[in-house]
Amino acid sequence: MSIGIVGLGYVGLPLAVAFAEAGEDVVGVDVDPAKIGDLNRGASYIEDIPSERLQSVSDRTSFTTRAVDLHGAEAILVCVPTPLNRNREPDLGPLLGAARTLAGAIAKGQLVVLESTTFPGTTRDHLVPLLEESGLVAGEDFALAFSPERVDPGRTDYTIKTTPKIVGGLTESCTGRALEVYGRICDELVPVSTPEVAEMAKLLENIFRSVNIALVNELAMLADRMRIDIWEVVDAASTKPFGFMRFEPGPGMGGHCLPVDPFYLTWKAREYDMVTEFIELAGKVNKQMPYFCIEKIERALNEAGKPVKDARILIVGVSYKAGVGDLREAPALKIIELLRERGGDVRYHDPHVPELPQFGLRSTEPGDCDLAVIVTAHPGVDHGAVIDVAPSVLDLRGVTRARRDAKVRQL
Ligand SMILES: NC(=O)c1ccc[n+]([C@@H]2O[C@H](COP(=O)([O-])OP(=O)(O)OC[C@H]3O[C@@H](n4cnc5c(N)ncnc54)[C@H](O)[C@@H]3O)[C@@H](O)[C@H]2O)c1
Repeated sequence: MSIGIVGLGYVGLPLAVAFAEAGEDVVGVDVDPAKIGDLNRGASYIEDIPSERLQSVSDRTSFTTRAVDLHGAEAILVCVPTPLNRNREPDLGPLLGAARTLAGAIAKGQLVVLESTTFPGTTRDHLVPLLEESGLVAGEDFALAFSPERVDPGRTDYTIKTTPKIVGGLTESCTGRALEVYGRICDELVPVSTPEVAEMAKLLENIFRSVNIALVNELAMLADRMRIDIWEVVDAASTKPFGFMRFEPGPGMGGHCLPVDPFYLTWKAREYDMVTEFIELAGKVNKQMPYFCIEKIERALNEAGKPVKDARILIVGVSYKAGVGDLREAPALKIIELLRERGGDVRYHDPHVPELPQFGLRSTEPGDCDLAVIVTAHPGVDHGAVIDVAPSVLDLRGVTRARRDAKVRQL
């Protein structure tokens, strides 16, 4: 018996490797033949999974575009994307596509678990009808559960094994089946009464982060006007041993999760005559941050007597977060776009992102420029060296504070 994983991205591939490392045979399915080609050559495209780690479980893993190969699997874990469409409404296309394909592949007795982040009701109202087109009945002929993925790419202190796993099955027995399977790779399991509780718990986690980041970002803009150092404020407040959790300001929110997931709930809430104002407000404040950063860039250049037009601006770190190359919704992209609109001569340095084809740019070493802007602070990048080569530096992440150099400005 094997574990099937559908969708081999940031979530699915680490999960596949975790099961293989626990001694399970794994069948990984993805619609992207290029990814399948890479994986079958033992080449990982996810930073958290070095290729050697993938190769060390090659005898227990097989990767394919053919969903029918899941027919013999004991459990099928679905990790496909859940983006927003152009109107910023949930796009269940990949998920429903995967469910339709699975309806032609699932077998009696299997367990199906959805891991993709989504609004409450997706598993029961959207997945069940499609999977039941197989002729099998959910909760009777096959088990079905929702178990949100909590992976945080680039993080090393918590892993799939050490991060508690929430599981909500369609029935008690579905929950039991899923707990048994996840118990093979996770130390701590958190059963909840329904898939809806598990779906909403994941959204609460992401909304909590989004709202708190927005709060500190709003205060950063105020502190800037009041000439108060927001980083010192955050440091001071963080000394409270209870009732406070540290969040840091930054250039805005990026990634596949925080700028997207909260709006899955906003959309669903409308069906219940609710306007989720915290979510909307947080989104609004966080979306404003790249514009505030542009204002700071303009001010920094102004002090050197330069307009943005034709100024040579080096962006340091363009991915959305430290330690990874993921560019989805990265605020640096918005900042580059806005600088270019103003005639700025933009270049960038990011060891995780060799090129930005949409801007016709390749990563360069920090060097000659009018202003360096630290947008994402990757470990391994020598920010002291950036300060040494640049005549002026704007640090949007507070990583150069210890240096106390007069040519450095903070967010
Ligand atoms: N990236 C994160 O940090 C993170 C963390 C927690 C939860 N999540 C959630 O997990 C889900 C997956 O996110 P991700 O970051 O891994 O996305 P991803 O884009 O990195 O990977 C998704 C993979 O699914 C494949 N795919 C798309 N449609 C498919 C289909 N019909 N059948 C098979 N494969 C298909 C894609 O080709 C891609 O390889 C999303 O719902 C996301 O919100 C992501």
